[in-house]
Amino acid sequence: MKSMKLYTNVQRIHNELAALGIARDAALRVDQLTPFDQYHYYGTDAIDEALKVLQLQPGSRVLDVGSGIGGPARYIAARTGAHVTALELQPDLHEVARDLTARCGLSSRVKHVCGDILDGAVVQNYDAIISFLCFLHIPDRTRLFSACRAALKPEGVMYIEDFGKPRALSVDEAEALAVKVQCSMLPWWNEYETHLITAGFHDVSMNDVTGAWKDFTASRLAMFRNARLRNLELHGQEMVDSLDDFYGTVAQLFQDGAIAGLKIIAR
Ligand SMILES: C[S@@+](CC[C@H](N)C(=O)[O-])C[C@H]1O[C@@H](n2cnc3c(N)ncnc32)[C@H](O)[C@@H]1O
Repeated sequence: MKSMKLYTNVQRIHNELAALGIARDAALRVDQLTPFDQYHYYGTDAIDEALKVLQLQPGSRVLDVGSGIGGPARYIAARTGAHVTALELQPDLHEVARDLTARCGLSSRVKHVCGDILDGAVVQNYDAIISFLCFLHIPDRTRLFSACRAALKPEGVMYIEDFGKPRALSVDEAEALAVKVQCSMLPWWNEYETHLITAGFHDVSMNDVTGAWKDFTASRLAMFRNARLRNLELHGQEMVDSLDDFYGTVAQLFQDGAIAGLKIIAR
């Protein structure tokens, strides 16, 4: 996983908070974190879009698969009163997430679990699953969607943001994706739908958001490069070069039409 540079130096969020004058152990509000704790595109706007579909109530049970440093889970819990299980594979991200959630006073509503969705690491009976930009790391869709199906109540709903394959890839593109994005399998549109239906999902709705994600990844790179001097001072050379490489790779892949952006709802 650490060949994907978004996942190295995850303590950079502490540098950002320190730059705002927030002490290392100070209490936090969710809105102070959202500029830095969302590892997907369009931040909380993307989550608000999901919430319109999910119609969560206080007390609803949500599983966030691949929860990163916990941004979406905290935002959903704070916004809706739902109980969120935040499942994250990488221990360092999980630890940062748990600390931030505790400092937001949300530990009773966001439960952080460190584990792999493929290992059946979570209990069942969820009303909803959300997963933002995690499934692209998991080539075994049969095991993945069967674990998701098992975790949901029969009437449950799953909201996914993921990559898809818009065309055949060159060798260089496939290698950049596999090494720098930890994505060794991109499904075609119809293949994706078939995997979900085979696992027992129905009412599958697939939405192409490639254009919006191409714009987002291009402007993320431009903004990061414009702020290079500030970022060097705050985070140091190694972190800035790593993130620049990662943001640049993803922006180029979208620019070249090598990946598609998908928002998927399945019941
Ligand atoms: C791009 S990040 C997105 C994090 C979060 N969803 C967000 O939007 O801020 C994807 C996350 O999925 C996690 N992940 C990848 N494979 C996983 C697996 N098999 N089980 C649990 N988490 C996984 C990665 O470690 C990573 O933190």
